[in-house]
Amino acid sequence: MEKTIHSTTLEKQQNNIQLKTLINNILSFGDLLLIANKGVGKTNALKVLSSELRKLPDTRVIIFETFPKFALEFENVPFLRIKDKDVTETRHTIDMEDYFLRHERDYCVLRGEEIKEALTKHKDIIFTIEIKDMERIAFFVYSVVNHFYRRAYLRLYKNYDKTERIVFVVEESQNIFDSSTISKKLFNRMRKIFSEARNLDLHFVMCSQRLQDLNTKIRGRTRLMLGNVSLDDYELKVRRLLRNSKYRTEILEFERGTFLYTATDKIIKFPKFETENILDKPWEIQPQTNPQPKKKGFFGKVWDILTIPAQNATPSHNNTDEDLDEIEEESELPIWEFD
Ligand SMILES: Nc1ncnc2c1ncn2[C@@H]1O[C@H](COP(=O)(O)OP(=O)(O)OP(=O)(O)O)[C@@H](O)[C@H]1O
Ligand SMILES: [Mg+2]
Repeated sequence: MEKTIHSTTLEKQQNNIQLKTLINNILSFGDLLLIANKGVGKTNALKVLSSELRKLPDTRVIIFETFPKFALEFENVPFLRIKDKDVTETRHTIDMEDYFLRHERDYCVLRGEEIKEALTKHKDIIFTIEIKDMERIAFFVYSVVNHFYRRAYLRLYKNYDKTERIVFVVEESQNIFDSSTISKKLFNRMRKIFSEARNLDLHFVMCSQRLQDLNTKIRGRTRLMLGNVSLDDYELKVRRLLRNSKYRTEILEFERGTFLYTATDKIIKFPKFETENILDKPWEIQPQTNPQPKKKGFFGKVWDILTIPAQNATPSHNNTDEDLDEIEEESELPIWEFD
């Protein structure tokens, strides 16, 4: 009995060490994609990882899901429901008389003020997306990722010393990164962000049932963690990928919660996710009933910022993100609509 308890504790400690190593690896390499069959524990693993990532200093975790798994079962993180009508199709072109700022949109995210406020108020957040079609889901995710990308980019450009690491946790990533569902232009933009993200301390932790469902450009750039995969995926992709792995056949028998981190060919066993305190539950951010009035424009500021040579920007210890907020609202490409 004592022996069993001892070995379980030891196993737990070893698992913890592996988990910490994995997290360091994600953050230094950039991204992680989990692939496993239905019910093998991908969502569970994402919860365990998200929970650990949240504890790191200067680290924000932004979760996207299309089914309320995190919203119902994760820990004390607020969630915002994004309704089907919140992303609408638009067909007009905005012409700013300067081709750098000309941007033709296909979609627009409503409730911009509210989403932005939620992102300002809460360090970590779950977006539970109740949108019906994949292209609009992808657009919503893109709009949030783009928001952080621009902030990180402008901070870097202005030489701010504020650092912040963002981890985007994307459930069912095939919905967002499957090129056949994303209009080419949107996908190109997303891909550009994705390829530059790690340099800006933006990270993606994703999961999907089948490797082949994801766009090749995305899956080629991430590190992989494979659980028990489908035979179909195994035949088509995984077998070749694991040709030098110790676990190349064993993978088809992996138990729930067991994954292979292919970069190091190491097994990682995830525990079942549990909150530390049973009362530690997610809570819903209530939709605003009285939208705040639209702020005045700051288009000039945007232009100033974009045209100040980088070498003139002086580092400061008192930078806040207020001016970034203004830029965000007025410059690019009003992806979010502020009513
Ligand atoms: N390591 C684990 N130990 C014990 N139970 C687990 C573990 N991982 C997952 N489970 C349980 O197994 C069930 C399926 O897990 P999960 O939802 O994470 O799988 P999934 O791969 O995300 O499935 P799907 O493809 O359907 O989204 C859940 O009830 C979950 O609590
Ligand atoms: Mg799942």
